[in-house]
Amino acid sequence: MRSDAVHIQAFFDEPTYTVSYLVSDPVSRQAAIIDPVLDYDHRSGEVATRSAAHLLQSATEQGLEVVWILETHAHADHLSAAPFLKQATGAQIAIGENICTVQTIFSAVFNVHDVSGKGVEFDRLLQDGDVLRLGEATIEVMHTPGHTPACVAYKIADAVFVGDTLFMPDYGTARADFPGGSAAQLYRSIRKILSLPPQTRLFMCHDYKAPGRDVFAWETTVAEQRANNIHIHDGVDEAAYVSLRESRDATLSAPVLLLPSVQVNIRAGQLPTPEDNGVSYLKIPVKWSAS
Ligand SMILES: [Fe+2]
Repeated sequence: MRSDAVHIQAFFDEPTYTVSYLVSDPVSRQAAIIDPVLDYDHRSGEVATRSAAHLLQSATEQGLEVVWILETHAHADHLSAAPFLKQATGAQIAIGENICTVQTIFSAVFNVHDVSGKGVEFDRLLQDGDVLRLGEATIEVMHTPGHTPACVAYKIADAVFVGDTLFMPDYGTARADFPGGSAAQLYRSIRKILSLPPQTRLFMCHDYKAPGRDVFAWETTVAEQRANNIHIHDGVDEAAYVSLRESRDATLSAPVLLLPSVQVNIRAGQLPTPEDNGVSYLKIPVKWSAS
């Protein structure tokens, strides 16, 4: 089945520059939600489900049965709305199996003991090559580590939801300096995506508008990326990419929502267990600067 036979709807969250997707099979009316965002105000600690409810309303209006909530990875820039959507739809939450590694890494960072390290917070752990059903369509799982060890991309017919691997050609690629990240692995993951047929449509997880571009954009093709991606167009070899990626990453500061996002997202979007006053708290590890 071609992806023009499945319906793809994008929802852009400008506060976090995240694109969530609602992908549906028109025959069965089954749908998958990819990378849903929970609204979070870092100043007040308030969370809300406005964005996710908007996405859900669209699914409801179209008479869709949401059966999958797919995470491309444990995001470091927004909190996941997966639990809200699961409760509303009964859909299963799926993520790459290496989330276990990410849980272990960050349980140590935050010194928390209520995260399994086995991925049991999620309903389905995915391996490279796994195939999920979406009515008449299929969702093929591609393990794409590098940005994080657990990153996966989802291929639905001729469309691939690339997560944090590639950005639009004029913006380049995702950073690879988070714990467990690797620029060399990211290079190989991206080349795997770019070995798909040239007309394959690629849907980004983020867009930040490259300098000189006035509008947000999130859809491109393998051919466009191979010709024009400023970091990894055809002809850039692994050594050159790793050098560029690592030198650029050395200049990047931590994402604003890194610490809250990771603590929630390794719990499949659940807030930390409430304390005896009924309130959930997020931790900030405080450390002295090396300089
Ligand atoms: Fe990310």
